[in-house]
Amino acid sequence: MSVQSRPETAAVTHAEARFPRDFVWGMATASYQIEGAVAEDGRTDSIWDTFSRVPGAILGGDTGEVACDHYHRMPADVGLLADLGATSYRFSVAWPRVRPDAGPVNAAGLAFYDRLVDELLSRGIAPWLTLYHWDLPQVLEDAGGWTNRDTAHRFVDYATAVYDVLGDRVPTWTTLNEPFCSSLLGYAAGHHAPGRQEGAAGLVAAHHLLLAHGLATEALRARGDDVRFGLSLNLTVPDPSDPTDPVDVDAARRIDALHNRLFLDPVFRGAYPADLLEDTADLQWQGRPWHDVVRDGDLATISTPIDVLGVNYYHGNEVSGHPRTDVVGIGADHPDRVALSPFVGSEHVTFPSRGLPVTDMGWEIQPDGLHRLLRRLHDDYPHLPIYLTETGAAFADSPGDDGEVHDPDRIAFLDAYLRAVHRAVEEGVDVRGFFQWSFCDNFEWAFGYAKRFGLVYVDYETQQRIPKSSAHWYAALSRTGTLPAVDGSAH
Ligand code: FCB
Repeated sequence: MSVQSRPETAAVTHAEARFPRDFVWGMATASYQIEGAVAEDGRTDSIWDTFSRVPGAILGGDTGEVACDHYHRMPADVGLLADLGATSYRFSVAWPRVRPDAGPVNAAGLAFYDRLVDELLSRGIAPWLTLYHWDLPQVLEDAGGWTNRDTAHRFVDYATAVYDVLGDRVPTWTTLNEPFCSSLLGYAAGHHAPGRQEGAAGLVAAHHLLLAHGLATEALRARGDDVRFGLSLNLTVPDPSDPTDPVDVDAARRIDALHNRLFLDPVFRGAYPADLLEDTADLQWQGRPWHDVVRDGDLATISTPIDVLGVNYYHGNEVSGHPRTDVVGIGADHPDRVALSPFVGSEHVTFPSRGLPVTDMGWEIQPDGLHRLLRRLHDDYPHLPIYLTETGAAFADSPGDDGEVHDPDRIAFLDAYLRAVHRAVEEGVDVRGFFQWSFCDNFEWAFGYAKRFGLVYVDYETQQRIPKSSAHWYAALSRTGTLPAVDGSAH
């Protein structure tokens, strides 16, 4: 366990917190992280298959080749989801199964998701589908990937193929998961696939991802709009180290621009933030300012109305504009491979530790940031139904002598984050559901299998699933819709 002390809220007293009756209790996964079966039924390589083969790119040389073998164990996994009280399941579709090599539609690949959706519905679980959780067909990367505008159009071809088969049974469709990661971590930092470290390419990729979101939303809505459309953004809460120091205040503004408003503003306001354009004005793409890739009409497409906003939140950060050595992990650190800063044009910014307890990812446990983020979205952006589409924590879990996996730190984490959500709901923020990341331990991208986020423990040797104590806790929560009172004096 990497935490030195229990999460800060465990020692205080809390009243019972009752959630609205129809609040969604979900669990989330993503295709490459759990499916395995990477060469079956016509699937071809994605950028994550390729990146996994780059020496040093993934901790321990891990790959998603087998992962949780979910492709073969799907019905049993759905049974477990039902037993654990999930009322909705957020999964993603692998583009290279549906259109291998971005070519013609592959019925065998689509059939897997067809079976998954039917299985979920038969167990009373609402499917929540993400079209892009980062597994871009490698052939498209070979043609430039998300720096190539054409990729956005290929995404529409893929999205419509999925929609034509599943649109009648899946009520909620999100186009992108965390475009911050698939653009800036993949094309500027090089921490994620495709591992490019090309600065401005991160911003160009962000624009084409947003364009893909807008084009696909318009195209799918035109085919039938009795479903809800949206996307999931991973947002942060940047607090200046010293709020009276203009250098720190400026650093926090820059991180807010690159992490939050780069995505929120085009989608909800039809414009890139002026300060971000200024901060990145010197960044050139193919000999011209990066922003020249934005064509007339793009922002109108990107800001096409959506119905739900998915928010992924793990932690915020203290932010400084000064060199600091007492820094915390922000997710892009990797022991075997040097990643660059994803914050292009603001590489000088540092993230000092606040001394808060951290998870096994080195991420600070900071539930009050979630409350402030939800309030901020409510205050600054149109009032859409919000769903927490990801929150969770990695801890170094393992079965005890009794064969059970006891994870009180994860329970304390979820309790604290859910109380932050509850507080926002009480204050009038329209949060309608919570998807725990993740249903089961899985392939945690550049960290391979070393980080365990699951409610369900996976023994990767045997593929045995063991629900952790947090899974039983979450099942009870989903049944009662109520966080029990906590008497801090008992701790
Ligand atoms: C998010 C990703 C998800 C998972 C969690 C821990 O950034 O969307 O796939 O890796 O972090």
